[in-house]
Amino acid sequence: MIAPDLQERLRAVRHLVVFTGAGMSAESGIPTFRDRAKGLWAKVDPAEVATPHAFKKNPQFVWDWHVHLADAVSRARPNEGHAAVARLQEFVPRVTVITQNIDNLHQAAGSRTVIELHGNLMRLKAFVDVDELFSGDASPVICRICNGYAIDDELDPYAGPEDLAAIELHAGSVPHCPACGALLRPDVVWFGEPLDPGMLDDAFLAAETCDALICIGTSLEVEPAATLPWRALNRGALVIEVNPVSTQLSQSASASLSGGAAATLPLLLQSVWGSVAR
Ligand code: APR
Repeated sequence: MIAPDLQERLRAVRHLVVFTGAGMSAESGIPTFRDRAKGLWAKVDPAEVATPHAFKKNPQFVWDWHVHLADAVSRARPNEGHAAVARLQEFVPRVTVITQNIDNLHQAAGSRTVIELHGNLMRLKAFVDVDELFSGDASPVICRICNGYAIDDELDPYAGPEDLAAIELHAGSVPHCPACGALLRPDVVWFGEPLDPGMLDDAFLAAETCDALICIGTSLEVEPAATLPWRALNRGALVIEVNPVSTQLSQSASASLSGGAAATLPLLLQSVWGSVAR
């Protein structure tokens, strides 16, 4: 499956980055985004459900779409691929998982260091209208609970974190923060929004200082996340790709393994570290 010299180099790795996209969770029953027939973006225009402008225009429609996705996510369980990624921690001194997925499945499988570049569907945060913010109409008061804006005296300023934690993504009307009254939204990164700068710095640093990076189930269509394998390659790290189809990375990668994550990752683990994923 992988050349003996690469196996040896992988066994010597001290810091491994595992970079994942929607294909990682496909075999857990969560659709990918860009599959031509069944992908999420084959069914709806992302501009209608995954931008701050869409939420501003029609919050309930965007909320309902995310509730529908959360339904699939809450029923999903980690697959053999997630389990194999978690088991890498037994063989490599430092493993950093950097995921574009918002489904929590790496954590559920036992991966300890997970950078969620695109957020987490099961968390909420206050909606901030960027247009108003830049025009100076929004009060730049940051709510201590929700990072929301415009604290309203009529509402309960003493609501604690547990009040916010109790509010989840569920069917029904879009909720408001009990502390500041802000409209709440899923804590995911929509098109046109910046990534959390601290997380992005951590991800870039990990990719640029690791000895090897395994890139799993991503079409590498979305920047800045898509730059991570190249950052690793440019610093001389080994880069292994796992994907049933070839991508712009396939030719440049140290090895490109054609197959699904759930079958390929346990085999990779077995061939390099002589172990079978449980
Ligand atoms: N195992 C591994 N890879 C798979 C599998 C599988 N079982 N099934 C499909 N794939 C691959 C596809 O070949 C494709 O290259 O997963 C990739 C999924 O690509 P996308 O749907 O584009 O998902 P992703 O790369 O994660 O998208 C990045 O785009 O819309 C945004 O915010 C969203 O985080 C997402 C970002």
